[in-house]
Amino acid sequence: MATMITLSRPAFFMILFLIVLLPSACRCADPDPLQDVCVANLNASISVNGFPCKPLPEVKSDDFFFDGLSQEGNTTNVFGTNVTSADVLAFPGLNTLGLSVNRVDFAPGGLNPPHIHPRASETSVVIKGKLLVGFVTTGNVLHSKVLKAGEMFVIPRGLVHFQLNVGKGKALFLAAFNSQEPGIVILPTTLFVSTPPIPNAVLTKAFQIDEKVISAIRSKLGS
Ligand SMILES: *[C@@H]1O[C@H](CO)[C@@H](O)[C@H](O)[C@H]1NC(C)=O
Ligand SMILES: *[C@@H]1O[C@H](CO)[C@@H](O)[C@H](O)[C@H]1NC(C)=O
Ligand SMILES: *[C@@H]1O[C@H](CO)[C@@H](O)[C@H](O)[C@H]1NC(C)=O
Repeated sequence: MATMITLSRPAFFMILFLIVLLPSACRCADPDPLQDVCVANLNASISVNGFPCKPLPEVKSDDFFFDGLSQEGNTTNVFGTNVTSADVLAFPGLNTLGLSVNRVDFAPGGLNPPHIHPRASETSVVIKGKLLVGFVTTGNVLHSKVLKAGEMFVIPRGLVHFQLNVGKGKALFLAAFNSQEPGIVILPTTLFVSTPPIPNAVLTKAFQIDEKVISAIRSKLGS
């Protein structure tokens, strides 16, 4: 015989809250894995959300090893920084695990220019040197701090942020992400040297500058 369950009003609203609001409160990044290992088959011709798994009998210990962050990146470029990525494309063992790491090298005065990771929050630890790090909230508030070796900062997902080497020598930090492929939108290059370019009429109005300034920025950023 079915029993009728009656709920008090507060209990009813509590259950409604749990059902309706909790899933939307999840700031989930990558989905949870459905098996122990799923080493990415980057060559697969079908495309899914992530990558298909390499057949299990072919999986080796080396699939879970990556030494691509052991070398210093070449910082001889306009920003004086170099980002080396250990994301799923470089390190297929990360597939479905929802994490990745970047190494960022800075020449003296080097800048990791204002950028966004559309799919991940980031937490970085300074290994060497002194960095000014900061992000701006959607309320247009800048949160920033100068960090030295061993210190950390966290950048919430999707917010514009930067790191500037304010020490005397080179600097190095490692950044961890809660996505296997956080993605990066570098504002100066996105806005000024996209392919095809954003029309000048958009940029002159957006930045209240004339076309000569746009051309100067474009030529300096290598377009
Ligand atoms: C993908 O293709 C490359 C080049 O053909 C090969 O070396 C590599 O082992 C392939 N990877 C997988 C997971 O099949
Ligand atoms: C980063 O460093 C690597 C390794 O030295 C180099 O191949 C690459 O061109 C550099 N990237 C930039 C943007 O300078
Ligand atoms: C670093 O990159 C610059 C510019 O591309 C190049 O001239 C230089 O030889 C590179 N240095 C090393 C150590 O590879």
